[in-house]
Amino acid sequence: MQAQFSLGESVDAQSFNQSEEKKQFVEDLLFLKKRIVQDGFRGPLRHFSPKGSFLRSCRRAREYVTPYAMRQVEQQISNQEKNDGIPPTPDHNKRDKEISQCTDQDLSILLANDSISTTLSAMRLFPAAVLNARVANKHSTLPTGGGADGSLPVLVRKGDIVVFSTWARHRLGKDFGENPDKFYPERWENLSPEMPGFIPFNKGPRICPGQQYALVVLTYIVTRVFQTFSAVSDYNTKEWTERISMTLENENGVLVGLE
Ligand code: HEM
Repeated sequence: MQAQFSLGESVDAQSFNQSEEKKQFVEDLLFLKKRIVQDGFRGPLRHFSPKGSFLRSCRRAREYVTPYAMRQVEQQISNQEKNDGIPPTPDHNKRDKEISQCTDQDLSILLANDSISTTLSAMRLFPAAVLNARVANKHSTLPTGGGADGSLPVLVRKGDIVVFSTWARHRLGKDFGENPDKFYPERWENLSPEMPGFIPFNKGPRICPGQQYALVVLTYIVTRVFQTFSAVSDYNTKEWTERISMTLENENGVLVGLE
């Protein structure tokens, strides 16, 4: 799931047909994570522990991610070209540096592991932008929702306001699997953040341009909190009570203890 999100392609961790290359990459990631944590506990003593296999795994993991990073950087350059209308001057040093930085960032997201599934789950149940609306600038139709059984189109006249609830969309129906009201990050093993009904950042031409940035920052903050504090406790004594202002909030605030 994490790989699908940061690289745009799954590592098929749940599949019986996982390629040798992907298998090796997953093994390398698991090994690197374990080693990084062990080194954290060893402190200055970590320098006495042999580094050969760690460096080999680092090199293989970077080699695996680099082609994806190259594609991401080339995509950025071509988007820039489309926006500015002028072809960028080829600066190979700058491009190589960007590819290297992008590889680092992709690997950091992959090492942060389950936080993306957890973040997607939190954004599904508690989307920051709860409600959204559009004003029709011409007569149009919505494909379904009309008629006795909701299967017919609905007329939308010019000037009509169409309000939609992200909160409700994320909890209705079965497209998120069983018990859509439950916080169950594992459901993202079989779902994609690209799926049509998942709209925390909306979709289409006005999709949130800060989406990737927001997710990287969220992942970074969660990771740093757990790296910095040995215990994170829930100090809330009152029920979660939803309050809708510009964004979705808890009426009683969110009291978290950090030790
Ligand atoms: C978890 C964090 C965020 C969430 C849930 C979120 C959600 C959204 C949503 C739902 C929209 C679409 C509004 C609409 O359809 O009318 C939107 C638009 C927008 N967001 Fe975000 N956003 C987040 C973070 C950010 C960040 C970090 C930035 C900037 C760095 C950003 C910049 C924007 C801008 C400029 C728009 C307007 C785009 C347009 O109208 O064309 N957002 N965001």
